[in-house]
Amino acid sequence: MQNRQCLLILGGGIDQVPGIIKAREMNIYTIVLDGNPEAKGKLYADEFYTVSIKHMEQIEYFISHKLSKRVDGVIAFGVDIPLIIAKTADILGVNHTIPYESAMLSENKYLSKKFMQQNNIATPDFQAVDDVVDIYKFIEKFDLPVIIKPVDNSAARGILYINNTKDIEYGYNYAMNFSKQKKIQVEKFLDGPQISTESFIINGEIYNIAFLDRNYNDMNKFLPNIIENGGDMPSVYIKDEHKLQLTNYIKIISKELNIKDGVLKGDIVIHNNKLYIIEFALRLSGGNFSTVCTPASTGIDFIKIAIKLHMDMKVDNKELKQTKNDCVSMRYKFVEDTEKGIIKKLIMPRKNKDILMANFYVKISDRIESKTTDHSKRLAVTVAKGENREKAIMNAQFFLDNMKIVCG
Ligand SMILES: Nc1ncnc2c1ncn2[C@@H]1O[C@H](COP(=O)(O)OP(=O)(O)O)[C@@H](O)[C@H]1O
Ligand SMILES: [Mg+2]
Repeated sequence: MQNRQCLLILGGGIDQVPGIIKAREMNIYTIVLDGNPEAKGKLYADEFYTVSIKHMEQIEYFISHKLSKRVDGVIAFGVDIPLIIAKTADILGVNHTIPYESAMLSENKYLSKKFMQQNNIATPDFQAVDDVVDIYKFIEKFDLPVIIKPVDNSAARGILYINNTKDIEYGYNYAMNFSKQKKIQVEKFLDGPQISTESFIINGEIYNIAFLDRNYNDMNKFLPNIIENGGDMPSVYIKDEHKLQLTNYIKIISKELNIKDGVLKGDIVIHNNKLYIIEFALRLSGGNFSTVCTPASTGIDFIKIAIKLHMDMKVDNKELKQTKNDCVSMRYKFVEDTEKGIIKKLIMPRKNKDILMANFYVKISDRIESKTTDHSKRLAVTVAKGENREKAIMNAQFFLDNMKIVCG
């Protein structure tokens, strides 16, 4: 027990459970914090504390009043809080990945886009917005459609697609409402396939591990919000030349932001056969991409490697080798796909061998709202495999359709 390494895990919701289980499999002692006293991760952690991971002062209070063990690393699985991870790890003297200043830059969409522009990394044209006139001017120069977004939010919150000048004022107010700092920006909307990427920086070297084609087939259902419905691996859109380009861009990012070891997730678009980075985040991706889809499709134990990096443990080259290239698809259930009201019953069908994971994000007595506006409004998820892409998609969708939400 004395020699067991100890990992502080920020966030213990249902999507974080695979990370907690992985750490335990690695014989690591886990201390999990989550603002929800009933967080699922509580069942899997060695120690659990009800502490809001979005509030640094609560974490600091926990460290000075409750933490009784030496911690060797701090991590979050798919929660968008790189700055809080960096600060917590700094306080504990165990920051092995992202420097605080770099985390700060990556959390701000305007600063990180400025950074990309200054470093010749292809990113959609953009501009800070002080008032609606700025948006009109931007459209005069770059034309419709555009995206309006808060600089300081995530999970699609506050992001609007604008393809008509009459919607500008609404878009401005909407995005502003989702910005704590009351700062928003406008961007040229670039069409083309969108891909989520996951890469490691290990000892300054770049390893692109996974590419997932984001599924926007239902995009019209959610407009003007931009919501993707899961995605498919392996990517059929990313070409070798794009991978090389991405590697070069991440090299620049890691060098300029002093990242020797760490995880980088990218949202990219292939527009006119050219790769653009919409945003990069210095953290593990959420939405089951790093925890479920990546290992199932590539055979690479992504979260194990991420845990090692956050604990300053050595990663073997063998661990980074792709051992398979399986078809894996992930699909979500949204408010639009189900009945409304107070949930009376949740029905989970029996899983067959193709179903890799299935979860409800809602519980009995929750109320189902009328519209999906961001990713936190997802109701359920299924990840499935199949012998080809179509079958994987079909397996995921069929199972998801049979996960019933009964309202009263
Ligand atoms: N300039 C853009 N061109 C095309 N799509 C965009 C653009 N900006 C945002 N999007 C779409 O909106 C999604 C969310 O935007 P993003 O900047 O990644 O914010 P979030 O932090 O919410 O993920 C992107 O993944 C992409 O699908
Ligand atoms: Mg994004």
